Amino acid sequence: MSIRRIGVLTSGGDAPGMNPCVRAIVRTALYHGIECYGIRRGYNGLISGDVLRLDEKNISHIINRGGTILYTARSDEFLSPKGQEKAASTCKFLGLDGIIAIGGDGTFRGAEALSQYGVNVICIPATIDNDICCTNYSIGFDTAANTAIDCIDKLRDTMQSHERCSVVEVMGRNAGYLAMYVGLAVGATAVLVPEKNIDFEKDVIEKIRQARLNGFTHYMIVVAEGAGSAADIAEKIKSALDLDPRVTVLGHIQRGGSPTGRDRVNATKMGYLAVEMLLSEKSNRIVCTQNGRFTDVDIREGLSMKRNIQAIEVDVLAAMTGI
Ligand code: F6P
Repeated sequence: MSIRRIGVLTSGGDAPGMNPCVRAIVRTALYHGIECYGIRRGYNGLISGDVLRLDEKNISHIINRGGTILYTARSDEFLSPKGQEKAASTCKFLGLDGIIAIGGDGTFRGAEALSQYGVNVICIPATIDNDICCTNYSIGFDTAANTAIDCIDKLRDTMQSHERCSVVEVMGRNAGYLAMYVGLAVGATAVLVPEKNIDFEKDVIEKIRQARLNGFTHYMIVVAEGAGSAADIAEKIKSALDLDPRVTVLGHIQRGGSPTGRDRVNATKMGYLAVEMLLSEKSNRIVCTQNGRFTDVDIREGLSMKRNIQAIEVDVLAAMTGI
């Protein structure tokens, strides 16, 4: 089947790097003489036909911009078969030979549903949570991690001056990848992630006590949002030790900002690969990285995969915080 016109959408939580990915898709499409339509507000735009033609002009100078020029949403209407039917008929009406969906697990489930109506779909992983099991890398994680690291480095300055304890809550939904990575990068006193059972006395209180015995006078506790609230953890520290911790919830600041070079380049490669896959008549695939190489897997297979925090990270953390 020849590919003449494709659509691209961003869905779910935004991630820095979505814009370079959209840019790469459009540039690759134009390079091959394919028309490209941007679908606004994720699957909602596909239901309502809210689209715009994308060309060199409207994607210029977005490689360095966070967020997504296509807007994003989590569509309730698309969860129903009626919504999915509407979206599929928009694809037919617009003559779209393929859809490239950029987002996380929810976006991929949506793409899988759309494929049941005969629409060719390719997915690209983009979420700061990095919780998509079939890929080691997802667009936005690197930028979010660097933003969180920068914020915590700043916090450390004031914590050190006042000899305080800081409890910082990092995003990640139900996953601890972001918190673990950030915790290792900032030299945290303790890191709490949902993948690891927490023994509060051993994993937090003892570590602070030990650090104090070693002469430290300020302490940085990093908690993944899925492992508990920073406010509750600070309360528990306060009642166990003679400390008055300060709480920082980094929140949506982690989702913004100019994408890092790594996110820009990988987003560009993934966008390019997605178009090339449609051209070689591949469909229902997720572009991903495994063992440091770009590859692709079937959507359903990708969604069924399981993964956990790497053992090396747990071991390194134990060594780094277990003096
Ligand atoms: O999935 C990305 C993410 O930022 C999660 O880390 C977080 O739990 C959630 O989205 C927040 O969602 P919202 O933007 O709807 O508040």
